[in-house]
Amino acid sequence: MLDFAIFAVSFVIFLLIIVFYLYPGSAKATSIPGMDPSDPKEGNVPDILQAGSLHNFLENLHEEHGPIASFWMGSTLTVSIAAPELFEQQLHVFDKPVDLFTLYKPITGDGSLLFSNGTEGRKRRQQFDKIIYHMNNESTFTQLKEFADELTKKWTTLPTEQHIPVFQYMMALCMKACTYIGFGDCFLDGKEVLEFSRNFEICWIELEARVTGSVPDPESLRNERFLEAVERLQETIRKSLHSRQSKEKKNLILLDHLIELNVPEEQIINDGVVFVVKHYSVVCAMVWAIYFLATHKDVQEKVYKELKDVVGSSTLSYTVLSKLKYLRQVINETLRMAAVEPWTARCQDLDTEIGGHIIPKKTPVIQALGVVLHSENYWSLPKTFNPDRFDEDDTNSRSKLAFQPFGFSGKRQCPGSDLVYMQLALYISVICTKFQLHLVDGQVVNPLQRVITRPEDEVWITISPRS
Ligand SMILES: *[C@@H]1O[C@H](CO)[C@@H](O)[C@H](O)[C@H]1NC(C)=O
Ligand SMILES: *[C@@H]1O[C@H](CO)[C@@H](O)[C@H](O)[C@H]1NC(C)=O
Ligand SMILES: *[C@@H]1O[C@H](CO)[C@@H](O)[C@H](O)[C@H]1NC(C)=O
Repeated sequence: MLDFAIFAVSFVIFLLIIVFYLYPGSAKATSIPGMDPSDPKEGNVPDILQAGSLHNFLENLHEEHGPIASFWMGSTLTVSIAAPELFEQQLHVFDKPVDLFTLYKPITGDGSLLFSNGTEGRKRRQQFDKIIYHMNNESTFTQLKEFADELTKKWTTLPTEQHIPVFQYMMALCMKACTYIGFGDCFLDGKEVLEFSRNFEICWIELEARVTGSVPDPESLRNERFLEAVERLQETIRKSLHSRQSKEKKNLILLDHLIELNVPEEQIINDGVVFVVKHYSVVCAMVWAIYFLATHKDVQEKVYKELKDVVGSSTLSYTVLSKLKYLRQVINETLRMAAVEPWTARCQDLDTEIGGHIIPKKTPVIQALGVVLHSENYWSLPKTFNPDRFDEDDTNSRSKLAFQPFGFSGKRQCPGSDLVYMQLALYISVICTKFQLHLVDGQVVNPLQRVITRPEDEVWITISPRS
């Protein structure tokens, strides 16, 4: 009888555990306000798909539940925070919840920097950051300026009123820059850059599709095309790597630095792909910048006037870029409006506390950076493009953590942000010195947030030369 009682009690406990395990809502051991799972297995994933993107979902979530809120990624309790003072409490955290970034794995490879964690991960990050940090220099500027000058020269030859596809041109320009500083001069051949950039686009479109829940059959043509593009992308980087190993070098590029550090070949290739992914953000930021300039003539004229006042008739130089203060404001406001990378995430191996709530260990914590970039709590009229909000007085009165356009400030702040600013400032300066930009009438330009926020369709402009 006793045996049976023990059995019965154990069995009931066993059942309870199963129920707790399988049905996430009932396991909720947190005081954080938030959503119950809408599906026992998938949690709130159907709601995310319905919202169109994680960013859109988080906007609704925080609107309803405040700056700290929870939801269910499948059976994983996930917390999202959307306030500078909450971000502050995460500044020291480095590790990422790998599951939230697995999307990238098929193209970057398993050994990518994007998922490296712990002591080893920190070491790799430091090395990589140092390399990227030193790339922002005068010689890089000079090379990239040549690429930008080529673009404006080409635009000068176009018939007036010709409709210009901005995304296509910015993709070509930024990919040229990225492959040159990343992988070297075997890429100076325009055809190879084009080929590389096509393969990247195939990969990217596939990642964007997967975010919407559309996963291809492994045997399908779609999957075959995707795998082939990934293979070609990685092979091109491998080819450059081999050519660098046997070469006298004048100019050190990303691959050379990684070779010098004895980073294993597979890892170099993985990190090379990450470098390209990060440059896709530059492409999108440039398209948004041109779009906002073309739709805000007053801002465009102020940028032009500043260029005339500061640069005048001399040529644009690396040192002068930092004196273009208004242009910086325009870039910052572009990044705020566009929210190119609207969220990131961290996790810890121990229980912690955020905003007075216990966060159980290993809980993914999302920093909803884009929600804050668009929040009325930190920006007046957040939907309006207004570079003046970044003038000194305004900037000083706002928490620095309200403006995190490239991922999260702290241990993993994007090391490339200076390099990105340099590129954006350079390209915009070169273009705006030469041309007035006009949006072709009748376009509705909508942001599409899948992985990196880009305009849903191509953006078309016309240009007129400045005298
Ligand atoms: C500037 O960056 C380039 C890589 O783009 C590198 O080859 C060069 O060594 C750097 N120069 C300095 C002074 O760090
Ligand atoms: C733009 O943003 C960066 C931080 O991301 C900041 O350091 C810089 O001061 C800002 N510039 C202006 C003019 O607001
Ligand atoms: C990354 O770190 C998190 C938290 O520390 C841990 O749960 C996860 O297993 C780690 N992943 C890898 C690949 O090390």
